[in-house]
Amino acid sequence: MDSSSRLSAEELVSLALEVSNNAVATHSLYHVGAALEATDGTIFTGCNVESDSYGLTICAERVALTKALSEGARSFTRIAIIGIQHDKNGNPICEDDENDEWYCGQSDEELGITKIPFLGPCGACRQLLWDHCRDIEVIGATPKGEVGKVWRLAELLPDAFNYEKKT
Ligand code: THU
Repeated sequence: MDSSSRLSAEELVSLALEVSNNAVATHSLYHVGAALEATDGTIFTGCNVESDSYGLTICAERVALTKALSEGARSFTRIAIIGIQHDKNGNPICEDDENDEWYCGQSDEELGITKIPFLGPCGACRQLLWDHCRDIEVIGATPKGEVGKVWRLAELLPDAFNYEKKT
């Protein structure tokens, strides 16, 4: 696909934001959306789907990836992801009023983890994306829908496990 017809990073983020509205986040109230771009330009989106068992919850990235794979896509270029914490009334609560900053709900002040203003994929998703997409670009959006940080997947999963079946 020629680069002029490719979506901008901002456009890919806005598709992730749109699908985050479908999040089934009954337990965490953390709405995640992902937009995975195949090499031919097709976009596959996904949101997180939580389970009452908690442990069976599926992340947005893996929903987008399995949708893509099951449609026959096998080659990928980028994924954009966004996470927005909501309160019980359904309102986003990503703004830190004191510092006038936005964050993703990934912070724990007691543990000294600073507020991260963009979403990075969880470890399990990093591995599964590596397995099927290899070194794609990962766009971590802010909860406001801006491009927060852009990585290569190899940076997020250094010295990754590469299984090569020999027989
Ligand atoms: N979640 C994702 O969908 N993707 C991530 O990269 C991080 C976590 C979901 C899982 C769960 O539904 C909620 O966010 C809180 O962990």
